[in-house]
Amino acid sequence: LNYNVSRDRRYILEILFNGLRRLEYRGYDSAGISIDSCSGDPSGDAPNSLLPPPLVFRQEGNIESLVKSVHKEVASTELNLDESFYVHAGIAHTRWATHGEPSPKNCHPQTSGAGNEFLVVHNGIITNYEVFKETLVRHGFSFESETDTEVIPKLAKYVFDRANEDGDQTVTFSQVVLEVMRHLDGAYALIFKSCHYPNELIACKRGSPLVLGVKELSEGTSTGASFLDLKFLSENGHPKEFFLSSDASALVEHTKRVLVIEDGELVHLKDGRVSVFKYDSDKGKHGTALSRPLSVQRALSILEMEVEQINKGKYEHYMQKEIHEQPESLTTTMRGRLMRGGSCKAKTVLLGGLKDHLKTIRRSRRIVFIGCGTSYNAALAARPILEELSGVPVTMEIASDLVDRQGPIYREDTAVFVSQSGETADTLLALAYALENGALCVGITNTVGSAIARRTHCGVHINAGCEIGVASTKAYTSQIVVMAMLALAIGDDTMSSQLRREAIVDGLFDLPNKVREALKLDQEMEDLAKLLIAEQSLLVFGRGYNYATALEGALKVKEVALMHSEGILAGEMKHGPLALVDENLPIIVIATHDACFSKQQSVIQQLHARKGRLIVICSKGDAALVCPSGSCRVIEVPQVEDCLQPVVNIIPLQLLAYHLTVLRGYNVDQPRNLAKSVTTE
Ligand code: G6P
Repeated sequence: LNYNVSRDRRYILEILFNGLRRLEYRGYDSAGISIDSCSGDPSGDAPNSLLPPPLVFRQEGNIESLVKSVHKEVASTELNLDESFYVHAGIAHTRWATHGEPSPKNCHPQTSGAGNEFLVVHNGIITNYEVFKETLVRHGFSFESETDTEVIPKLAKYVFDRANEDGDQTVTFSQVVLEVMRHLDGAYALIFKSCHYPNELIACKRGSPLVLGVKELSEGTSTGASFLDLKFLSENGHPKEFFLSSDASALVEHTKRVLVIEDGELVHLKDGRVSVFKYDSDKGKHGTALSRPLSVQRALSILEMEVEQINKGKYEHYMQKEIHEQPESLTTTMRGRLMRGGSCKAKTVLLGGLKDHLKTIRRSRRIVFIGCGTSYNAALAARPILEELSGVPVTMEIASDLVDRQGPIYREDTAVFVSQSGETADTLLALAYALENGALCVGITNTVGSAIARRTHCGVHINAGCEIGVASTKAYTSQIVVMAMLALAIGDDTMSSQLRREAIVDGLFDLPNKVREALKLDQEMEDLAKLLIAEQSLLVFGRGYNYATALEGALKVKEVALMHSEGILAGEMKHGPLALVDENLPIIVIATHDACFSKQQSVIQQLHARKGRLIVICSKGDAALVCPSGSCRVIEVPQVEDCLQPVVNIIPLQLLAYHLTVLRGYNVDQPRNLAKSVTTE
């Protein structure tokens, strides 16, 4: 929304399209947009007079399909792209289907009906929509889509019409939205636009992320005491632009001044002012009157993200860029946290976000790691070192499974929530469950201000930088490093493990160099991908520290290259997987040097005896040890401290998945049916 500054329609469209492009990685099966059909300042004398309906464009496919269809429509209707707006409120949405297939009618903005009086874009899921749908149908509304979202604009129109039945149009936009909000169950971040309230936008949230960005356009206002003062920014009348988004990456090219919106808050943008209200959702639920919302005054924060982080730079794909920037992302993860020499004689780690809780963690009855997908795998990779250095039993939970089982979580437990986005619905539900059960909750996330970062008692940010490729790569390696540092911090009071801990600290310092060396396997992995391009299936065997590497390597191949792939615990080989082995099925065996090495050598021999088509990942110089017959393909990686080896070993597998995908002609950054941040159950 722009205020007091002239922007033409072309500019407005581009801002919205660009925002969607930045968010496309979160969902990309269809998209939509709404802009005003005419300019002018209709808000003057008759605040609630009906204006020409806003324009709505909705299109199946990716953002570029929407862009094309809008431009086609603009050309055919002779809509003037040069028309200027001193104030304009636009909304846009990219969708990842939950209810209803990808199709124009299911895209957002969803509308209140003919005339587009109320328009809504929604991220999340409304669980009680069917009840309202039935009621609204009884009141004469007809539904066009199969979405849960459609009830929201229709409910808004219903509330608005009821409030105005006596002809006295005094109900405010916030009142309408508050009334709608108190009926909704589920998770949502919503933005409302209405021709009854021109040049206003309302956003609200519960469960799903929402961030507001403010850009001051007049000179001299970007410094000084009022820099972060929401009230000052609201009242100074300077030209400005406001941005609302599910993710800060869509705002950073416009402004770094943001307000992370909390659950139960409602943001009202009007006449260059931002008003934020907090309301108590429980008090207002199910028929009881809504308590008067409280006005919120909070300082804006400054985003640490840089625009370069969200560009591909010299790379063709985000996944490729993110794989290759791991030496740097790992360095950033460790920056300021590792101590060696200087005034600090001991080699140790410092995790500021945990220092007041380490004693409690050491005394806990067990540590439970909870996560989904790649984040779960990262926790699995760190589990052995955590058990070794903490002496506390460590168990693993896939977030959805913990919630499904309502598995036991106790007050004496430390529950560690691992999540790149910090917004994954399953992990958030598991967090709510662990909080209810009184466990100490620790968050390990890549997203400052995310729900997991805010709702846990303490935690560590992995600082890997913005990750855009849907398949997680650099966040995985940074998560392992953070959890290795967590193990060091917990074990810090144990003399007997001091030498081991010092060796790990040394290993961490050198890790970015070793990863850089492993990245030189790029060409070799592309050559291997060429050999495997037409395969149907690929097995990956690992054990010990590298069981997680097998799972994660297989997950990468499966999710981006769309090739069936399975990570197998080598110790289980004889209990099933061996039956699959023949001379055709390619098998990757991870056999780098650690305490399990001789067992992996024997696995290789047994697979070899069954004519297995083997590709072995081993430590540099070990080729002859892992493949005496010379008949397997060997990939040599640099040797590091055993517990850090998963960070190096995953590199060739990430590269393999990347090249396989490109060669097979699939979209690397947006794999079929997957989203980066799964904010619905
Ligand atoms: C989705 C993504 C994965 C990710 C998982 C957990 O499935 O596609 O890449 O590992 O969610 O996400 P989180 O943000 O919690 O780490």
